[in-house]
Amino acid sequence: MVVNIKNIKMLFEEYAYFNFQFPEPQYLGAKHTHLAWIKKFIPNNTKTAIDAFAGSQSVAFLFKQLGYKTITNDFLNFNNQIGLALIENIDIKLNAEDLRLLFQPAKNKREFELIENTFTNDFFEKAEARFLDNFRANVTMLENPIKQALAFAVMNRSMTRKITMGHFGHTQALVYAADPERIKRNRSLIRPLKDIFEEILPIYNDAIFENKKENQSFNKNILDLLPTVNHVDLAYFDPPYCDSHADYQGFYHLLETYTEYWKDKEFINKIKRYNPQHVSGFDKKRDVINSFKRLFELSTEIPNWLISYNNRSYPGIEEFEKLILKYRDVKVEAKTYHKGRGGKGSVAGSQEILFVCTPKKKHFMSVSHQQKIVNEGLYLNTGTP
Ligand SMILES: C[S@@+](CC[C@H](N)C(=O)[O-])C[C@H]1O[C@@H](n2cnc3c(N)ncnc32)[C@H](O)[C@@H]1O
Repeated sequence: MVVNIKNIKMLFEEYAYFNFQFPEPQYLGAKHTHLAWIKKFIPNNTKTAIDAFAGSQSVAFLFKQLGYKTITNDFLNFNNQIGLALIENIDIKLNAEDLRLLFQPAKNKREFELIENTFTNDFFEKAEARFLDNFRANVTMLENPIKQALAFAVMNRSMTRKITMGHFGHTQALVYAADPERIKRNRSLIRPLKDIFEEILPIYNDAIFENKKENQSFNKNILDLLPTVNHVDLAYFDPPYCDSHADYQGFYHLLETYTEYWKDKEFINKIKRYNPQHVSGFDKKRDVINSFKRLFELSTEIPNWLISYNNRSYPGIEEFEKLILKYRDVKVEAKTYHKGRGGKGSVAGSQEILFVCTPKKKHFMSVSHQQKIVNEGLYLNTGTP
């Protein structure tokens, strides 16, 4: 057997970064459990890839592991902080000295009372709300923005670990945290956030690596970002599944509020969601078709697209396929959920869909086929001699 050294080297390089593990997220519609399946459809010659609606950053992390120059984006800033911490970051970690600073009594405490004043006795008891404000004040004392991003990523993840159901679209947090049965099943409900933070920080620190590319994380509406990026080989689009109750800003409002520390928003409804919200363009029936058209028009320079979808979203699979066909050839791949934990409102029996979109093939006609058409008198005389 002839051993091709070049192929072995390429194979080794492809897997060099797979020792690093993506910290398990708790995010509606996160794709960390589908990565091996998605990877099968990535074209071989990819060098630069964009994860346009990155959420937990699971697919961006896969792109980074594959050695691609990775551009990642989400219009919610708490997701961008994960992108800065895990995708853009090559070697900055939080060390013992940083932790001392983050947990010390804050010098600028007075300017940081938003969580205590807004969410005490909704999601947290007073002491935990104060702890969050104090930590948030100290994040601003970390000089390096990547360190700040890592502090946000880990504290935001600690909050989804502590709060029942891992999101903030309900008012049951303290009710469940007082229920011995629930506590027996999930001790995080009563653990101090500081303990959870200290437990999961090493998992994040260990996920930081360099893939020798200049990766970038953005916090923009994708329709504003696309005109500014060039030379991208592959776009991965995983928009919110329209009409499936996937309300990212309703579910994760607290993480965005904590990260942005809003001074100019109201906090409305029982869950105290910030208002006004960012406009997505992809989550309301009235906007979604136009948004997709715009997305595809802005992506014409990117040859290959992978689009995650669900068979219960609007527009339906066939209509969506027709929309894509105006721009790309497309193959529809499907994976059926057997358990009801696909996220984005997916239930058992619903399907995770991947539209594999490639540049349109020109319709060449073989000479023998042309001759057949002439012989059968089907040739349309165009008037040219
Ligand atoms: C289905 S989730 C992505 C999940 C992600 N693939 C993962 O593995 O975690 C959709 C994401 O799109 C983001 N989003 C919605 N509208 C957007 C827009 N117009 N521009 C950029 N991001 C947007 C949401 O914040 C949400 O995180």
